[in-house]
Amino acid sequence: MNILGIETSCDETAAAVVIAGQRVRSNVISSQISLHRVHGGVVPELAARQHITAIVPVVETALAEADVIRSALDAIAVTIGPGLAGSLLVGVNAAKALAYALDRPLVAVNHLEAHIYANWLGPVGAAPPRPPAFPLVCLLVSGGHTELIEMTGHGRFRQIGRTLDDAAGEAFDKGARLLGLGYPGGPAIQHAAAAGNPASFDLPRAWLRDSYDFSFSGLKTALHRLVEPYRDDLPAPPDALDSSPSGPFVAHRPPRLKPGTPIHDLAASFQRAIIEPLAVKTARAARETNARTVVLAGGVAANEALRDAVRTEVERECGPEVIVSIPAAVYCTDNAAMVAGAAYFAVRRGVQAGWETDVRPRFPLTG
Ligand code: KG4
Ligand code: ZN
Repeated sequence: MNILGIETSCDETAAAVVIAGQRVRSNVISSQISLHRVHGGVVPELAARQHITAIVPVVETALAEADVIRSALDAIAVTIGPGLAGSLLVGVNAAKALAYALDRPLVAVNHLEAHIYANWLGPVGAAPPRPPAFPLVCLLVSGGHTELIEMTGHGRFRQIGRTLDDAAGEAFDKGARLLGLGYPGGPAIQHAAAAGNPASFDLPRAWLRDSYDFSFSGLKTALHRLVEPYRDDLPAPPDALDSSPSGPFVAHRPPRLKPGTPIHDLAASFQRAIIEPLAVKTARAARETNARTVVLAGGVAANEALRDAVRTEVERECGPEVIVSIPAAVYCTDNAAMVAGAAYFAVRRGVQAGWETDVRPRFPLTG
């Protein structure tokens, strides 16, 4: 079964063709990072407008790269939420139009479910991996979500933990901003941390004993205090006024830190403080739910230090028989292959969407 997936929930316009939920024929992603970087974060109106420009060429490229003609598609899948309403609308309407014109079923996909199904995907054009065995525990860590989920079968999810405040990706992004490292923050911190010592600074971990929940807002405040003495308070040069298509705007300028600021050690210590509770609680949840597999999902799962920490903790807590599955980095951040993948397993359960399907900016994975 050939499924075309479409993803426009945030700042990536993406389309992909996947066979039977696992075999990826194409995976096209048009990133808007450069558009939003000057603002220091995603601007929803700009994102929606850019999706409108990109959606048709991205879908056409995905079909061409997959070498699939439209009539060979069996279903059209699209992310309906959670995400930015204006961005989601572009993908949902494109998917509806295609499904209607081709007389194919429309499949509405939850973005968080799609992130989890990234673990079923193989490299483009290559054989897929062995599917993760149930029951599994998933650590889903993205820019908007941080959840620990037990999955006992296809489409059967139970939330066992979540963040009480910032998402892990949000913590990375805010921390990077404090350190003047730019946007998006996760990759910037990972890069800076590679040359630093994570034991240099003592930053707090919110362990929230006897629970699988997380909290990162105190950590962000602690980093803010730690960075304070290194801030350079010299008057900044005047802002550049840019006359971009979005109208004149004041470019986002990260804080200036004094020469000699131990930026690598600060980044490494901050990264370690985010990762430790994530890895430790994931491993504990796996042991306590007798999971056979631990999977990672979401943009933060691209982080090498998190990947290593989860492997180490799961092996220590559960032994070598519990398999840790981590998607390739390109399937961790937003993409449409994961949407087409999740849709296949939903279709097998009889899930199909009607023409009245609308976007769901808030769309929890579990009821
Ligand atoms: O899943 P995603 O692409 O979009 C959402 O659904 O939110 O995740 C984006 C988040 C951003 O916060 C970004 O900073 C973070 O994932 N991220 C990373 C890394 N790559 C992306 N965080 C840590 N390390 C990375 N290598
Ligand atoms: Zn995402």
